[in-house]
Amino acid sequence: MDKIKVGFLGFGNVGTGAYKILQETGNEISHREGFEIEVKKILVRDTNKKRDVQADESLFTDNIQDIINDPEISIVAEFMGGIDPAKQYILSALENKKTVVTANKELMARHWPELEKAAQNNGAGLYYEASVAGGIPVIKVMSESLQANKVYEVMGIINGTTNYILTKMSEEGRDFHDVLAEAQRLGYAEPDPTADIEGFDAMYKLSILSSIAFHAKVPIDNIYREGITKITAEDIAYGKELGYAIRLLAIAKKNGTDIQARVHPTFIPVSHPLAAVRESYNAVFIKGDAVGNLMLYGRGAGDLPTGSAIVSDIITACHQENNHRYTTFYNENKASWQVRFEDDWETEFFIRLTVKDKPGVLAKIAGILGKHEVSIASVIQKDHNKDVVPLIFVSHHAKEQSIKKALDDIGKDEDVLQIENVIRVER
Ligand code: NAP
Ligand code: HSE
Repeated sequence: MDKIKVGFLGFGNVGTGAYKILQETGNEISHREGFEIEVKKILVRDTNKKRDVQADESLFTDNIQDIINDPEISIVAEFMGGIDPAKQYILSALENKKTVVTANKELMARHWPELEKAAQNNGAGLYYEASVAGGIPVIKVMSESLQANKVYEVMGIINGTTNYILTKMSEEGRDFHDVLAEAQRLGYAEPDPTADIEGFDAMYKLSILSSIAFHAKVPIDNIYREGITKITAEDIAYGKELGYAIRLLAIAKKNGTDIQARVHPTFIPVSHPLAAVRESYNAVFIKGDAVGNLMLYGRGAGDLPTGSAIVSDIITACHQENNHRYTTFYNENKASWQVRFEDDWETEFFIRLTVKDKPGVLAKIAGILGKHEVSIASVIQKDHNKDVVPLIFVSHHAKEQSIKKALDDIGKDEDVLQIENVIRVER
């Protein structure tokens, strides 16, 4: 039986997940596929570290050359994260004609064209299922199973850490930092969790996913990004009162040659299918002209779900051998001249203010919104028995830039003490 030898770059959450799967299911995979997958070397930072998952000591190395220059290793699986030195290691592996499987969304989103060119020039494969939505096989679905479609919308929850945090804050009233620490312990968060909570991770994933979906490059610079760090217990409570759940959504829409791509906290009605996506689960909604609406749902982070994507990519790569597929669109770091990126999309807005409690304030703010073509769907004004009160507006569909201008004017009003938060609403 053929033995496929694999070099691992990293042995943290994802690496140990992939290793455990190969230990548990390796024999069954060999029996089924007709080849055996052997992990020959594992690159780590610290070869003396005590590890929860046991692997033979002789497998560990801190010298990349042991993998790059080993002619027996035909596949390199990277889950060390970051740009440097991961990028250089992957390029060297590709130049040595080794196929690469990676979970590294930041590297893919920032340097995909360079990596893909190196793969193509050397007849090697580049597989990245694990880079988007953990265990959900969305890259394969998008790049293979939906080829018959013009996909015009991708919307989803593609970051497990923030979904875990928002679920626990909403359902259990727990503190942001406390839940973030738990998500880190559970292996969902990035090595630097700023990437999760500030929306960078979802932005990288949206760039990869929407580029494949639209057959047009969606560079990270063209994606609007906002994280969840400004979401408070008050926002969540008022949202509940209005019948909303809060989620960090990644949204990309294509209309003709116009593309909008954005990542931000979003209120959705509690009856919306994405409101049922809790904890570290992810879900991706896809709209295609032929297939109609499609939703994929599953674990978006963690050792075994992400390990599942890695091991499946290794198996796919073995079957493709010298016939790897690459992207079919103009894969450069900049956008194609054939598309135009929008920054004035239309949606509904939740606006929470703290204002002086005196007659006429509500009417004045409603007037400012009206002046900027923002029409109001509902208002909540609580009686706090103080001289300041919270005032909440939800708009009908309004343009992003109109809201910005209205907020500029509202912020200048002497009776408005604070614009507490502005959260987009999708249905
Ligand atoms: P992690 O637990 O921090 O593991 C990183 C591993 O890489 C560690 O084994 C570390 O070695 C090794 N490493 C890091 N820098 C290295 C260097 N310069 N030289 C040699 N080894 C190095 O990270 P993770 O959570 O597994 O995530 C890894 C990658 O997968 C990231 O790109 C992440 O975005 C992606 N990803 C993660 C998840 C998830 O759920 N965690 C899901 C999908 C994708 P030591 O063990 O010696 O420190
Ligand atoms: N940190 C990422 C998340 C890991 O929370 O979704 C999966 O890509």
